[in-house]
Amino acid sequence: MRILFLGDIVGRPGLDYAETVLKEILSEEQPDLVVANAENSAGGRGLNRRSAEALYDAGVEILTLGNHSWDQRELISFIDEDERIVRPANYPPGTPGRGYTVCRVQNTPVLIINVMGRTFLSQLDCPFRTVEGILREHPDIRHVLVDIHAETTSEKLAMGWHFAGRVSAVLGTHTHVPTADERVLPGGTAYITDVGMVGPYDGILGMDRHAVIRRQLTQMPVKFEVAEGARQFCAVAMTWDEQGKASEIRRIYRTEV
Ligand SMILES: [Fe+2]
Ligand SMILES: [Fe+2]
Repeated sequence: MRILFLGDIVGRPGLDYAETVLKEILSEEQPDLVVANAENSAGGRGLNRRSAEALYDAGVEILTLGNHSWDQRELISFIDEDERIVRPANYPPGTPGRGYTVCRVQNTPVLIINVMGRTFLSQLDCPFRTVEGILREHPDIRHVLVDIHAETTSEKLAMGWHFAGRVSAVLGTHTHVPTADERVLPGGTAYITDVGMVGPYDGILGMDRHAVIRRQLTQMPVKFEVAEGARQFCAVAMTWDEQGKASEIRRIYRTEV
């Protein structure tokens, strides 16, 4: 089974470039499942109907989220009906939407889980125990992808090693900067600290860099807009066997420069 996972999609540049690059690489990579983190797909903040449809049309099948889940209030009106959208599972009980979804790939069930780290982010329930609980509820599913949306490398590495040999992949998102530590952990768990993003190349985390620099220099509130210009595409391609063990994780990085 071949799985393609795209890092945080940022705004219109991210949506357009994801579509462009996927047109090329879907035939090269022949993935059986395409997943993307979509928390910044609607104008850089959140997910709405339009950005979800754009990603589905581009070939993405499952969308994960993160700390920007609720930036577009519109999502609350349709997240419960769309089983392809997964928000962090460690939000308080009663939060709209679902923290995991099960899709079928070649007639095999695949469990996709999204959790958020707690360091420098909201103080949600423990992401480790949350994933443990979801795995306990699905003892027969062997193909499991965990998107750990977190700020710090230590939290993501701890998640990777804690679940090594028990899930097929632990993939970090949120920082928008790809890391070069992709590897298969003992027991067949594909791991990367951060997949990176699909969005502007010359901004700062996808935002117009002039505004970000101005905020740093003045410490005053400054409105951030999605950057324009050249774009980048960050993803990982994985191969999992019938037992859900990963044999390969490979970074895909493309830019227009
Ligand atoms: Fe993000
Ligand atoms: Fe994030």
